[in-house]
This record gives sequence, structure tokens and C-alpha cells, in this order.
Amino acid sequence: MKQFVFGAQWGDEGKGKIVDLLSKNADFAVRFHGGNNAGHTVVVKGVKHAFHLLPSGILNKNTVGVIANGTILDIGVLLDEIEKVEKTGLSLHKKLIISPRCHLILPYHKALDEAYENARGNNRLGTTKRGIGPTLSDKVSYNGIRIYELERWSHFKDKFVFQAKIKNKILYTFGVKKINIKKELALFKTYRKKILPYIADTYEVLQKASKKNKHILFEGAHGVMLDIDWSPYPFSTGSNVITGAVNTGSGMLKMDHIYGVVKAYTSRVGGGPLPTELFNKTADNIREKGHEYGTTTGRPRRIGWLDLVATKFTCEVTGATDLAITRSDILSGLKKIKVCTGYRLKGKKIQYTACGYDELAKLKPVYQTLPGWNKDIKGITKWNTLPLNCQNYLRFIERYLEVKISIVSTGPDRDEFIRL
Ligand code: GDP
Ligand code: IMO
Ligand code: MG
Repeated sequence: MKQFVFGAQWGDEGKGKIVDLLSKNADFAVRFHGGNNAGHTVVVKGVKHAFHLLPSGILNKNTVGVIANGTILDIGVLLDEIEKVEKTGLSLHKKLIISPRCHLILPYHKALDEAYENARGNNRLGTTKRGIGPTLSDKVSYNGIRIYELERWSHFKDKFVFQAKIKNKILYTFGVKKINIKKELALFKTYRKKILPYIADTYEVLQKASKKNKHILFEGAHGVMLDIDWSPYPFSTGSNVITGAVNTGSGMLKMDHIYGVVKAYTSRVGGGPLPTELFNKTADNIREKGHEYGTTTGRPRRIGWLDLVATKFTCEVTGATDLAITRSDILSGLKKIKVCTGYRLKGKKIQYTACGYDELAKLKPVYQTLPGWNKDIKGITKWNTLPLNCQNYLRFIERYLEVKISIVSTGPDRDEFIRL
């Protein structure tokens, strides 16, 4: 069985939580795109684990973590993450494999990400400054360096020195500190030794597993509203986030289930239009109650009502078969809850796909108001014990999106969910 879990909004929907619970008995949990701009949280018996590069399913005893070819890697961050997990007593020896085709996020990529952001001034995009855009642009302009080179030290050294010298010239024009090539080479030599034991042909492993009908879970990062092609570019991340990215990023095809993770309201970090954004006490209350601060950068997340127009688009473009709705518990106590069911621009109805960033910033959301519920639903595990208004809210989402709800998450912890 192959399952794909994607973020149906602007990221931070709770993918980590859903991936962990769906991969309880999985043979493989796979990251296949993005880098450590992702921040996925898994909570096990009150203990929080934040993953940026390791697959969120890795804490499950028998699940092998796979970092497939489409993922871009900051080796320093990955090694830290491995160390943290191993400190919990879980050895990743034979439990983690990494494709040699993965491109490396190098120090000059991070410096360039920061330099471009600073140069944009008030027009900055709000990237995570993890070097994502510059790494992916090097990948497609044939200037990237992969784990493959790191396996062959002299190749890595030559390419790194060549690229770093060019990048240093660009950094100099930005008035930014240059990369210390010698120091970085020494550091990468130490990284190399630590990372080599994990390198394997991930395609072969997954292909064999797929033929044996093993349980493989593909963990989407970010949200489809940040997809490089389908977001209001340039308010995007550098990767494709849709289902096709599973194929390019891991070589695998034909998902049996495609789970859209939908947060019961909207959040976003970074710049760009957010049609249903709220600038009032309700937003502040949701942010504080829900601790809506970035898992990667700690930035406060922007908050809005659930945007069903955007979410319907993301479910369509991915071919979602199931919904996992998270964080309805944060909405408990609100008298009324609004959901956006349409967009209007200059008095006329407009579709999401007809909008660029300018239209999205100017349009007026059409809202439907639904009654809220008072009861605290945190930790509830049975649908029938949810307050009726909460059930109705969730059913409204399901009807609008025309995708069935399979999971309702009722808290951050691994055990806090309802399976339908
Ligand atoms: P991801 O990037 O999609 O994996 O999401 P993040 O981990 O960045 O942010 C989601 C946050 O919500 C994390 O702190 C999770 O522990 C938490 N979370 C997930 N599901 C629920 C839920 O149903 N209720 C509550 N209150 N928190 C949740
Ligand atoms: P997870 O997987 C939320 C956003 C950044 C910024 C834009 C570009 O945790 O849901 P980048 O560093 O990718 O070049 O920044 O994309 N972004 C995310 N926002 N969650 C994420 O990942 C994100 N990944 C990228 O905030 O607006
Ligand atoms: Mg996140």
C-alpha cells in the first residue's frame, strides 16, 4: 500500500502528526521533496519531536526512514537531527537510508538566500533563509552538488571550490561576508564520514518494497498553496508540492490513498496574500491558544478563517482521496466560525486559478457563518462524543471539498485522534 500525505493549505497543517499515526505499522516513511524549511512536529506522550529532514514516521519501531532523491539536504542539520533521535535510545543504524541523488544545501546557498531577502527590503518574501531557493536554482542550472559527489571526495572538493569562488563574488556584490572555503571543506570532510553509512539506492529499495506490496508512506512537506507552479508565485517555496512530486522525488507512482491534511482554520508564515487573514482579537486568541509560532523559524504565524476555495483547489490538483482535519480543538469556545466559500473581485465571482498575487490580495472572500461549540474537544477519540456543532462544522468541510474525512485530530499527541 502506498499513501501520500500532503498539506492542503499554506503549510503547518499538522502533517507530522498525521504521518506519525498513519505510519504506525508502515515499512517505510519517505521524504521526497523540500528541505529543512519544513518543520514537522510529532508528540509522543507529551514529548515533542521536531523533524526538519528526517521522516516523521521514523519514531515507529519498525518503520525505515527514507530520504529520497528529491529532498535537498543541509547535512549539518540532518546530523543534528539524527543525534537527537539517537539520544532518545532509538538507533538509526539500518533504520535510515539516503539517496546519493539528493542535492546539498551548501553554506553559500544560505548566505545567498539571506542576501536576496535583505536586498528585497520591504518586498522580502519571508523565506525561511535555509537556502532553499538558491539550492534548487543551482540544481536546475547544473551547478548543484549532490551526495554523489560527497561520496567521491575529490569531485566534491573541485566542485565546491569552483562554485564557492563564483558565489563569493556574488556575495561580495551584495556586501555580505564571503564563505571561508578552507574551513567549510574541513567541516564537510567530517560530515562525509558520518553520513556515508546511510547512503543507499533508495529507488531500488522502494521499487522492491512496492512490488511486495509493503506499506510505504510518502510525507509531503510545506503546503500545496506554496507549490512553485500552483501558488501565487513568487510567494512560493522552491519545490513542487503536488502528487507528481512523489514521482519525481522518489520514483514511485500510483498512490492508494492521498490524504489532505486540513487545519480547521488557516495559518501562514512569511509574506504573500492570504485572502481570509484576520487582524483582530480572534486571530490573536487562536495564535496564543494554538501556539501558532513556526516550528522552523519561531516566527508568529498569520491566522485566518478556513479558506475552502483554496483548499478545494489543493484537494483537486492532488487527487485527494481522504481528509485528515486537525486543530478543531483550538476553535472550541468560539460562538461563531466563518468559512470562506467563494472569492469575489470587483463584484464578480472569481476562481482561485484565475488569480495571481495581485488578485488574491484584492479579492473579497465570501463567508458562510457556522455556529461554534463550547465543549473542550481535546483528546476526544470518538466521533459521537464531539459536540453536534463541531460534527456539523466538519461535515460542512467534507461536503464542500467532496472528499471524505478519515481522521479528525483532536490534539497534538499521537493518541489524540478520531478514525472514521
Ligand atoms: P506540519 O508542518 O504540517 O507538520 O505542522 P507543524 O508541526 O509545523 O505545526 C502543527 C502544530 O500543531 C504542531 O505543534 C503539532 O503538534 C500541532 N497539532 C497537530 N495536530 C493537532 C491538533 O489536532 N490539535 C492541536 N491542538 N494541535 C495539533
Ligand atoms: P512545513 O512542511 C510553512 C514558506 C516560507 C516562505 C516561503 C518560501 O512545516 O509545512 P523557503 O524557505 O521555502 O524558500 O520560503 O515558503 N514555507 C513554509 N511555511 N511551513 C512550511 O513547511 C514551509 N516551507 C516553506 O515561510 O513563506
Ligand atoms: Mg511545519
